[in-house]
Amino acid sequence: MSTAVSKEKLIAVIGATGLQGGGVVRALEAGRHFKVRALTRNPGKHRVVADEVVEADLDRPETLKAAFAGAHGVFLVTNFWEEGTDERKQATAAVRAAKDAGVKHFIWSTLPNVEAISGGKFHVPHFTGKAKIDPIVKEAGFLHHTFVIAPMYYQTLVGALAPQKQADGSLGWALPLDPAVRCIHMGEISELGNIVAGAFAHPDEAGNGEYLPLVGDFVSFNEIVDILNRQGHHFTVRQIPTKEYAALFPGAVEVAETFGYFQAHTYLGSDSYDRVARANKIAGGQPSKLSTWARVNMPVEAP
Ligand SMILES: NC(=O)c1ccc[n+]([C@@H]2O[C@H](COP(=O)([O-])OP(=O)(O)OC[C@H]3O[C@@H](n4cnc5c(N)ncnc54)[C@H](OP(=O)(O)O)[C@@H]3O)[C@@H](O)[C@H]2O)c1
Repeated sequence: MSTAVSKEKLIAVIGATGLQGGGVVRALEAGRHFKVRALTRNPGKHRVVADEVVEADLDRPETLKAAFAGAHGVFLVTNFWEEGTDERKQATAAVRAAKDAGVKHFIWSTLPNVEAISGGKFHVPHFTGKAKIDPIVKEAGFLHHTFVIAPMYYQTLVGALAPQKQADGSLGWALPLDPAVRCIHMGEISELGNIVAGAFAHPDEAGNGEYLPLVGDFVSFNEIVDILNRQGHHFTVRQIPTKEYAALFPGAVEVAETFGYFQAHTYLGSDSYDRVARANKIAGGQPSKLSTWARVNMPVEAP
C-alpha cells in the first residue's frame, strides 16, 4: 500500500489513557506518519507518551474546540461503563466539534446493533447504543470516516471475567452460555490501534465508511478453556441457567443478555470474514492469537 501522508498531520485521540485509545496512541507513534495529540480529562495526572497531551472532556463540549483545533483526524471511543456516561450525547458533541474544527477523517469505535440483528430479542445497550451513533458519524459529512469494532478483550479473562472458584473446588467459569458454541470474537485490544493507524494512513482504502473489526481469535468457551489448559491451567467451564446467573451480582442480567446474543448470533452478529480480512490488511498484519496473549498475561502460578 502507498503511504501518502506527512508527519505534519495531527491526530487527536480520545481515550488516550485507556485501553483502546492507548493502543491507538502507541500505534500512531510507532507509525511515525502523524503527530499525536493524546486527550484526557486530567492532563496533569496521566503519563502518556505522545507529541502533545491536551485536556478534553466529552461532558464539557467547550473543551473540545481546543482539543480538536488543527487536527486532521480524530479517534473517538466512549466509555459506557463509566457512571453517568451518555454515549450518544458525548459522541454527538465530539462529531459536532470535529466538524467545526475542520477535521477530515473521523474514526468511531462502534459495536454491532444487537436490537436490529436479533429483531429486538436481546437488549444489550453497550452494543446497540454505539451502533446507533454510526449514522451521526456518517451523516456529518467528513471527507473520510471509518468504523472500527472492538472484540471481547482477551484482557477480560484477567478482569471482569476472570476465573472464579466453583462449587466443586475448581477454578473456572459458570456461564449462561453453551460452551460448545463457537460465537466469541476476541482480541488483544491494544491491537485495535494498528487498524486505526492504518485507516488514518490509507483513507482511500479505509475511510469510506468501512467497518473494520479486530479479531485475533473466534472461539467457543470450551476452546478458550482448552487453549488455557494446554498451557498448564486446570480451568473448568459449565453452563448454568440464565435465571441463576442473573441473580449472581448487580449487572448480571445485562451480562446474561450479552451471552444470549453471542450464542444466538455470534459477537459480531454476522459472517465477518471479509471485514476481518480487510481490517488485517489495513493493520498490516495478523492480530495476536489468544494462546500468544495468554502465555504472557495468564501465566500458570507455581503450586
Ligand atoms: N471490555 C470489552 O471486552 C469491550 C469490548 C468491546 C467494547 N468495549 C467498550 O470499550 C469502551 C471502553 O473503552 P476502553 O476499554 O478503552 O476504556 P478504559 O480503558 O476504561 O478507558 C476509558 C477512557 O475513556 C476516557 N474517558 C472517559 N470519560 C471521558 C470523558 N467524559 N471525556 C473524555 N474522555 C473520557 C478516559 O480518559 P481520562 O480518564 O484520562 O479522561 C479513558 O482514557 C466501553 O464503552 C465498552 O463498551 C469493551
